[in-house]
Amino acid sequence: MAFFTHHVLRTLSSAARNAAIKHVTVIGGGLMGSGIAQVVAVTGHSVVLVDTSEDILKNSTRAIEGSLKRVVKKKFADKPEAGEEFVQKVLKNISTSTDAASVVKNTDLVVEAIVENLKIKQDLFSTLDKVAPENTIFASNTSSLPIADIARATARVDRFGGLHFFNPVPMMKLVEVIKAPATSQQTFAALLEFSRVLGKHPVSCKDTPGFIVNRLLVPYLMEAIRLHERGHGSKEDIDVAMKLGAGYPMGPFELLDYVGLDTCKFIIDGWHEVEPENPLFAPSPLLNKLVAESKLGKKTGEGFYKHN
Ligand SMILES: NC(=O)c1ccc[n+]([C@@H]2O[C@H](COP(=O)([O-])OP(=O)(O)OC[C@H]3O[C@@H](n4cnc5c(N)ncnc54)[C@H](O)[C@@H]3O)[C@@H](O)[C@H]2O)c1
Repeated sequence: MAFFTHHVLRTLSSAARNAAIKHVTVIGGGLMGSGIAQVVAVTGHSVVLVDTSEDILKNSTRAIEGSLKRVVKKKFADKPEAGEEFVQKVLKNISTSTDAASVVKNTDLVVEAIVENLKIKQDLFSTLDKVAPENTIFASNTSSLPIADIARATARVDRFGGLHFFNPVPMMKLVEVIKAPATSQQTFAALLEFSRVLGKHPVSCKDTPGFIVNRLLVPYLMEAIRLHERGHGSKEDIDVAMKLGAGYPMGPFELLDYVGLDTCKFIIDGWHEVEPENPLFAPSPLLNKLVAESKLGKKTGEGFYKHN
């Protein structure tokens, strides 16, 4: 009986939480925001994607449509009409806007994926805080800024958490769900549940630099650069060694080119500023040189390697 009651309560509260997050606003229609909007729409939520211009939003919608069509090509290989129907159904769940303040009035959750700048994120959330309903949850997809620092621009620190997705969002299963000191248990539970509803695997994280994945990954990537700088191995050998010896799908230099050298530098510089004595966070002259030369990786055609 006790089990039954507990089970029913759990099911009810989970249903209530599902019911709570139906309308989502994603702010930032770049790489991450488009991917987040896509998975939110695929799982049957209505989503408004916000960016600063109609042109950017057209590109976001085009990127989402392209990504959906790639999925459909595989999933509906022998039923192309059903595939097209699926794409249109998902696209119907997505609308766009250049005015965040006007759309959040009717939203259960705001997921922010704009430029990685504390002041700009704070300004955005401070504006939205004044117009969003009381119960709207705010979440940031920041990779390197403390959630608490962004949240303090609002009067809803208890309804504020982190939802850290991975690129490419439709493919990557993981979401790091971040509980800042002021995040309420109810908000945290709602964010965990929402991630599951998206078909992702959430892990719980504290509001500490790099959460789990980047806290381990970025020092590893920096250590690979330092190893190479000291002349202990060529980029090619280090990449092959980690693929064949550690079973990693990409070597560290391949991964650095994929992530973007500027992104890696931005993260490590931020951590170095906070903990200058920590050797894991020390800057690298080689990384700084490549970034100064605008060799940022795949996106600029050259990083540690040349790309086509
Ligand atoms: N790229 C990654 O692999 C990755 C992974 C996880 C988390 N993140 C985080 O996600 C966020 C976005 O990263 P991205 O790679 O998608 O960046 P991006 O540059 O591709 O996209 C950012 C978008 O935000 C828009 N924007 C900027 N200011 C805005 C504002 N005030 N209002 C509305 N839109 C605004 C820009 O026009 C741009 O389209 C960052 O916080 C980043 O740290 C990135």
